[in-house]
Amino acid sequence: MNVLEQKNNIKVLISAEEIQAKVEEIADKLNKKYKDSEELTLICVLSGSVMFFTDLARCLKMPVKLEFIKVSSYEKSSTTGEIKEVLFNLPDFSGKDVVIVEDIVDTGITAKYLTERINNDFHPKTFCFVSLFDKKCTRKIDIEPDIYGFDIDDKFIVGYGLDYDGYYRNLPYTGYIE
Ligand code: IMP
Ligand code: MG
Repeated sequence: MNVLEQKNNIKVLISAEEIQAKVEEIADKLNKKYKDSEELTLICVLSGSVMFFTDLARCLKMPVKLEFIKVSSYEKSSTTGEIKEVLFNLPDFSGKDVVIVEDIVDTGITAKYLTERINNDFHPKTFCFVSLFDKKCTRKIDIEPDIYGFDIDDKFIVGYGLDYDGYYRNLPYTGYIE
């Protein structure tokens, strides 16, 4: 199947409207939690969280700084994964609130790595892990996002930032390839 045929076979799982409503719900939680924050840094985990990140950032009401990191993960076997830092230039966060914004928590390997790396090496005052999607059923590591949007079954999803072979990140909805 080529990419065009594949695109026609994407079944919508969560509509653009449902995603936007959920983004606003998550933003409300953050606006409450950090209403007195003098400086909150939102970290975008490229590339998957780009759509969620920019939509979420525009709903926040406190003073916010934006940072960007990029990591890639590759599975060496079925039980261990290794994370490669492709872009990882962050300032020291001493005294600051940090919210990391991910697209999806799957095995949990990336979430655990990022949580430890940022807390150990960049010293935030508070740290919150937000993920739009949560695949609890495929977790290999005992870690949960502090805030998440949608529970996802064991399906490979694309759209709204998530890709298959680099494609479909620009779709405004999330779906799966039949
Ligand atoms: P982890 O297995 O929790 O470390 O997730 C690593 C990364 O795999 C996520 O941040 C996503 O970029 C990617 N990923 C996991 N599940 C999916 C999916 O269903 N669609 C697209 N990307 C996924
Ligand atoms: Mg990701």
